[in-house]
Amino acid sequence: MEFVHRSVLLDETIEGLAIKPGGIYLDGTLGGGGHSSVICSRLETGRLIGIDQDAQALAAASVRLEPYQDKVTLVRDNYCNAPAVVRSLGLDGVDGIVLDLGVSSYQLDNAERGFSYRYDTALDMRMDTRQSLTAREIVNDYPERELYRIIRDYGEDQFAKNIAKHIAAARKDKPIETTGELNELIKAAIPARMRANGGHPSKRTFQAIRIECNHELDVLKNSLDELIALLHPGGRICIITFHSLEDRLVKSTFRKKENPCTCPPDFPVCVCGKQSQGKVITRKPVLPKEEELETNSRSKSAKLRIFEKAAADK
Ligand SMILES: C[S@@+](CC[C@H](N)C(=O)[O-])C[C@H]1O[C@@H](n2cnc3c(N)ncnc32)[C@H](O)[C@@H]1O
Repeated sequence: MEFVHRSVLLDETIEGLAIKPGGIYLDGTLGGGGHSSVICSRLETGRLIGIDQDAQALAAASVRLEPYQDKVTLVRDNYCNAPAVVRSLGLDGVDGIVLDLGVSSYQLDNAERGFSYRYDTALDMRMDTRQSLTAREIVNDYPERELYRIIRDYGEDQFAKNIAKHIAAARKDKPIETTGELNELIKAAIPARMRANGGHPSKRTFQAIRIECNHELDVLKNSLDELIALLHPGGRICIITFHSLEDRLVKSTFRKKENPCTCPPDFPVCVCGKQSQGKVITRKPVLPKEEELETNSRSKSAKLRIFEKAAADK
């Protein structure tokens, strides 16, 4: 299967990285190598480290990045391990980092991966197929209240409670094995008049289960500090999010890094001693332009935020 994925906010991310031809860049969500190939095209003596936990993504990216192979190191890992990966290459840090979160179109379009409600296939949704937790276990083994919380918080589905109830009732008879079976349950849990309005009734629940299956929010939350610490002075991190909870995490972390002071606002001078680690480049998130929104449906909820590490340790 061909790896087809149109990179989201590509020009904006490349511009935001302010690439130095001799710099070291880390793409923590390599995918098909769309962002990485443009980064590589700007490098002279520099280097790109590309990480993805999905073996098929790495295989596709290695073909795409072949013209730059002398500058590229590809690693199958979770980006939460990026600091160890960078150190294992004998490097003390990087000049820029890109995270383009979530799934690729390739993963969604590849029926057997079980990410999409558009195919009837086994419930899987693992980005890293070495992981044991699958969507099947989440759907069949999680307590109903946990399913409700996940579908409500990660899927932002107003019918979360009823969907969780339908799943819990159905699995009493027999395990839910396929995306098709799950689709039917979700459909039954959403009133017909509401189904007619929105997009596909399963969209939100599938997103929620995928986020849970791949621990997407926990990984982001637990990685941001270390990723920022990995930046060389003046280095930039560009993060593209697709979910309001992800965006909120990135926004608040960047703000805290810029202004970590915990002194009461009426203190004349800072006594907490916490120093700024850099500055937020994007006061407001960068959103896709009209043209991109029209031609790439995956860009619809995308938001790019950029942070720049202080020029030198103060
Ligand atoms: C949206 S795609 C990236 C597309 C890429 N920027 C491009 O233009 O081709 C996201 C990729 O990140 C990978 N990914 C998501 N979370 C990850 C994580 N925590 N660690 C490593 N890879 C991850 C997915 O497997 C997927 O291939």
